[in-house]
Amino acid sequence: NDGDTMPVLVIGTGYGGAVAALRLAQAGQNVIMVEKGMSWTQPGSDGKVFCNMLNPDGRSYWLRTETDQPINHFMGAPYNKSISSYTGVLDSEQFSGIRIYQGRGVGGGSLVNGGMAVTPKQENFASILPSVDAGPMYSTYYPRANAGLKVNNIDQTWFQGADCYQFARVGIKQAQRSGFAYTFVPNVYDFNYMKQEQASTAPRSALDAEVIYGNNYGKNSLDKTYLAAASGTGKVTIVPQHVVTTVAPANGGGYSVSMNQIDTSGNTVKAKTVTAQKVFFAAGSVGTSKLLVTQKATGKLPNLPDSVGTGWGNNGNVMVARQNQAWDATGSLQSCIPCVGIDNWADSGGPAFAEVSPFPAGIETFASLYLAITKNPNRGTFTYNSGTGGVDLNWQTAWNQPSIDCAKRIFDKINSKEGTIYRTDLFGEYKTWGDDFAYHPLGGCVLNVSTDNYGRLTPYPGLYVIDGSLIPGLTTVNPFVTITALAERNIEKIIAEDFH
Ligand code: FDA
Repeated sequence: NDGDTMPVLVIGTGYGGAVAALRLAQAGQNVIMVEKGMSWTQPGSDGKVFCNMLNPDGRSYWLRTETDQPINHFMGAPYNKSISSYTGVLDSEQFSGIRIYQGRGVGGGSLVNGGMAVTPKQENFASILPSVDAGPMYSTYYPRANAGLKVNNIDQTWFQGADCYQFARVGIKQAQRSGFAYTFVPNVYDFNYMKQEQASTAPRSALDAEVIYGNNYGKNSLDKTYLAAASGTGKVTIVPQHVVTTVAPANGGGYSVSMNQIDTSGNTVKAKTVTAQKVFFAAGSVGTSKLLVTQKATGKLPNLPDSVGTGWGNNGNVMVARQNQAWDATGSLQSCIPCVGIDNWADSGGPAFAEVSPFPAGIETFASLYLAITKNPNRGTFTYNSGTGGVDLNWQTAWNQPSIDCAKRIFDKINSKEGTIYRTDLFGEYKTWGDDFAYHPLGGCVLNVSTDNYGRLTPYPGLYVIDGSLIPGLTTVNPFVTITALAERNIEKIIAEDFH
């Protein structure tokens, strides 16, 4: 409530925020979490909390009147649909050279993501977080994160016969035929539940085109893991539909945090200001970066370092699809949860880790879709725009060319071996590469650059960053396990040293 004082405020309920809240509560602290999006617990008129990808409605997107699908064309024609404007679960945030998809709601990105829970290879860790000692990460914090997130592995015998993974088996076969390594990828989606979906003994979710607009069943998103455990301590209160706008030192100590309570049309219904002794920024790479560059530029937190806003990368994300021969059908029933990756990271000429993605059209398309994570050296910078009062990102679409070059090393070879071609009708008219959007924003407040080596904003004691903005642009694999493990490491240190 307006005027409240509190010991700890966490901004955002994604991975970083959820870890901070749970561990602080277990250490005896009372924690308030504020979240811009909704609490996704109430079913709509169709009896479901979330809509699926084939029939999107207002629940799908954050305040848009038309969907903005990653695959926005089909057979070359625009594929978006009109929807009612609502505080939906997936935000497609447009910057000049890239649109960045993010989850909105209690659970952040865990509500909309593919659940792929990948621990990077230890040999690559020094390139991901150079100032962090890999030993304890791999002995303690990655295992802790995997346990907290309820990561599980697919039953490979079942996989071989499941209709819903025909697309993935085709992906493996073609990778092998061209000499590429592949790996099964762990997930937070409950694979035992998926077996029941395939057997038609439980309501379908992953097998009913549900993922980027939320899963009604099966997925262990953060609201079912870390956040449920945090609430279970009795010490954590989650306040949805509140957008934090300013953070500044308060008279008499602590920080004054202003926020707007919003309705489902995005309109402010009440402005509130509270005082917190300690504040954790966990609004995600984009959200935290935007807040920090704004506070610095508008004089609320003028002593933040100049590096705030820099070091942003897209985890080398690029998407592409291939059209298979008639004997390589990919299946009309596809699980929306990817479970296989082609691992070409060891190729020093163009490292890439490409997940074999579902393309759930409900019909046979003979298409193979991939989301590649590549080694792209380009980094963007967020800056405050005093004219608009917003925040710009200087990333240019052309900066994704290194990612395309990495991905081509895999898919040109597969096309040549299979006698197949790229599809050019999915990401625009005659456009092969999905190079102008990202699922994996990282950086903007890089660890040991803009913060100390544990996420403290040192000019302002009691302010911390604990989300994907700490990671300098690339994790070599899908990022959320690394975000979670780093948060586990940092909060342990912060609790030990800063909370007495
Ligand atoms: P996250 O973005 O999770 O949470 C930040 C929260 O803060 C959000 O809930 C947001 O609404 C809130 N917020 C922002 N600004 C605020 C403000 N001013 N006031 C209050 N609240 C505010 N990763 C992976 O490892 N495997 C995968 O399979 C996938 N797949 C995938 C698919 C899709 C479609 C997307 C969009 C993303 C993925 N990801 C993924 C990426 C993954 O979801 C992402 O890296 C993490 O969610 C980032 O975690 P954070 O804790 O940094 O922020």
